[in-house]
Amino acid sequence: MYVLETRQRTTAKLPLPSAVLQRPGQASILQVYSPKILPLRKLQTRWKGRIRKLPQRKPSPFHLRIGRTLVITSEARFLPRGFRPIPRLQIRAGPAFGTGEHATTRLCLRFVVQFMRKQGSQLESCRVLDLGCGTGVLGLAAARLGARVEGWDSDAVAVQEAERNRRLNRLGKRVCFRKRDVLRDAVPAAELIVANLYDHLLLHLLPRLERHRSAGTTLILSGILKGQENSIIRAANRLGWKAERRARLGRWFCLQLSVR
Ligand SMILES: C[S@@+](CC[C@H](N)C(=O)[O-])C[C@H]1O[C@@H](n2cnc3c(N)ncnc32)[C@H](O)[C@@H]1O
Repeated sequence: MYVLETRQRTTAKLPLPSAVLQRPGQASILQVYSPKILPLRKLQTRWKGRIRKLPQRKPSPFHLRIGRTLVITSEARFLPRGFRPIPRLQIRAGPAFGTGEHATTRLCLRFVVQFMRKQGSQLESCRVLDLGCGTGVLGLAAARLGARVEGWDSDAVAVQEAERNRRLNRLGKRVCFRKRDVLRDAVPAAELIVANLYDHLLLHLLPRLERHRSAGTTLILSGILKGQENSIIRAANRLGWKAERRARLGRWFCLQLSVR
């Protein structure tokens, strides 16, 4: 797979999957994806920019166990027998971020699973938003445990992958994935918002969640490097959120915020 990254702005409908990467304080970047390089070369002669070959990730089999609540695996056949009675999720190791192996994802999964366990009988009516869903792993985990989920990603390829994983796990209408930008689109109401993004995006997202704060939503924020956690907590405190929990894995932090 190849990607052309250009500063060109266009409103024309492109024949190839594309995404606009918003960078607060900087010009946005249009990304156009193609399995062949030639169509991108043609666009590049008009729009300039650079073409990159996306690293071919070899699907490496993995399984990850979140306590006794959930097992995430790349391929069902690699699931050890002892894991069978536990709810499981199959996540294809494809081009999108989020197989569950990265520390930021694992921290989120731990918090999401604990949040779901606390919902008890209200789980069925629990709405979860997965912002920056990548493969959809976090949202799909919440759905597997009973929540209703909407996942967003600004990258069209990620949304495709998440949809593919939704079908693979037969989660039906309980989950939907959409191509949306967390800095632009109106964020719907939810009991839980999980956002494994980058710190600058989290800082721009927080002020957009005023309605959610008043409604008592819980936030799980990840993708926070050691040393950045305090600036996120300070920004959240100024907006009325309280850091309920924090967890660290290696150089990554995950925060759970609420108004309580
Ligand atoms: C670190 S990955 C997290 C993937 C997955 N949720 C996980 O936890 O493994 C961040 C994702 O956010 C998406 N993203 C980046 N900027 C975004 C934006 N402005 N709006 C929506 N999604 C965005 C990226 O495309 C990427 O898939």
